[in-house]
Amino acid sequence: MAKLTKLDDIVSLCKRRGFIFQSSEVYGGLASCYDYGPLGVELKNNVKKAWWKAAVQMRDDIVGLDSSILMHPLIWKASGHADKFADLVAECKKCNTRTRVDHLVDNAEEHTEHVPIETAMADAQDLSKKVCPSCGKIGQFTEPMPFKLMFETQMGANVDDAMTLYLRPETAQGIFVNFKNVLDTTRVKIPFGIAQIGKSFRNEVTTKAFIFRTREFEQAEIEFFCEPGTDEQWYEHWKEVRFKWYTDLGIKKENLRFRDHDPDELAHYAKACVDVEYKFPFGSGDWQELEGIANRTDYDLRQHQRGIRTLNDWFETKGDLTKITLKEEAENFEKGPLSYFDEQNKKRYIPYVIEPSAGIDRSTLAFLVDAYDEEEVKGDTRNLLRFHHALAPIKAAIFPLVKKDGMPEIARKIYDELKGCFNCFYDQKGAVGRRYRRQDEAGTPFCITVDGQTLDDNTVTVRDRDSMEQIRISTDNLKSHLREKLDM
Ligand code: GLY
Repeated sequence: MAKLTKLDDIVSLCKRRGFIFQSSEVYGGLASCYDYGPLGVELKNNVKKAWWKAAVQMRDDIVGLDSSILMHPLIWKASGHADKFADLVAECKKCNTRTRVDHLVDNAEEHTEHVPIETAMADAQDLSKKVCPSCGKIGQFTEPMPFKLMFETQMGANVDDAMTLYLRPETAQGIFVNFKNVLDTTRVKIPFGIAQIGKSFRNEVTTKAFIFRTREFEQAEIEFFCEPGTDEQWYEHWKEVRFKWYTDLGIKKENLRFRDHDPDELAHYAKACVDVEYKFPFGSGDWQELEGIANRTDYDLRQHQRGIRTLNDWFETKGDLTKITLKEEAENFEKGPLSYFDEQNKKRYIPYVIEPSAGIDRSTLAFLVDAYDEEEVKGDTRNLLRFHHALAPIKAAIFPLVKKDGMPEIARKIYDELKGCFNCFYDQKGAVGRRYRRQDEAGTPFCITVDGQTLDDNTVTVRDRDSMEQIRISTDNLKSHLREKLDM
């Protein structure tokens, strides 16, 4: 039976085998930032490919986008992030450590996502019995204060026209502000979605558990535009589709669940939200969000119509967001530039949006954790990653049994033929048993070995990672055999 995985086992495997490294490690490391090594980048790319395939390639009603990270600052005023995207923190007067107030309020059952600032304020009246997680002092906190989560940066070299910009805290806004471009340049009709994968940044007060919560992270988001009144139906659709995506890629059902957000937990733009949670092995076993599916209503498109109407004020205030109040709705708001005209039914409206928003790094971690296994084989422990074939960083490893009798030449030839089809690895170093184990730990589904019999009958062994069974296949049929098995 599979052993209960501990996060430490995963972290150590990731480092040992080159999946994930601490960022800037040779300089002592940079907290909460990580680099994906040779195996990790393949795994993460495969997670993204699988998402893109399901979200865009396989659907007629979704198109893709890759918007810039730096965007017009007014976008963040309109979206609400400039004013509302903050965590409420209190500073310990003894050690100056700032802690999220919602973490202090309920230390035993730590909140994992951003509690809206208004809710945290209401909950935060009494910090007199709260313990500083850094120095242990009790009740020595400042008044709670909002801490903005967006990273700022400057654009432009000239003092006069340099502008403060933000690194995007979600990719979603790049989609909303391209809604009209996509409508005008493609044949999409509502209901339809726009999908995007990209980096986002949040200056988190508390980071967490390896790559689970980091300040720089990658999101995979769909904004699905639909007619008001059909939104609840699409919300259910997306819940089902997204849950299935994880199980289709091998995550065990018992490790996944939905969790509805309480009304006071909802983000400022959401009417409803449900998290797809995975049972991560942090501490004693912990359900944590992999993905949120939110009903964002027409909030964002409406807000951007207000933002567009406010543009002149923005210029007049020289881009000082603190001086800007968004223009309120005008007459005929429904006919604004981000409205949609339904040709068939001759009606115009501002679409509602359902948003499945997945974290690529935390999904990658979940795939690693779920695939991790240890088993006893002939008195020895075999560590392996039982990745779904689509996610495995290396699909096939090719070995000569020994480095003589022409075996390396044949193995190299096989490697050269296969590497054009999928990611392969050639290895002739050390005992073949050790080479198998190394590939088990990398999650490689198939190992192909050229041996003495190959010289006689042109067959090789193909070893299956999960069962360790070996079959003999003629080299003539090897490519088609693997392509069929790998579904590629
Ligand atoms: N777009 C939703 C989020 O970033 O949480």
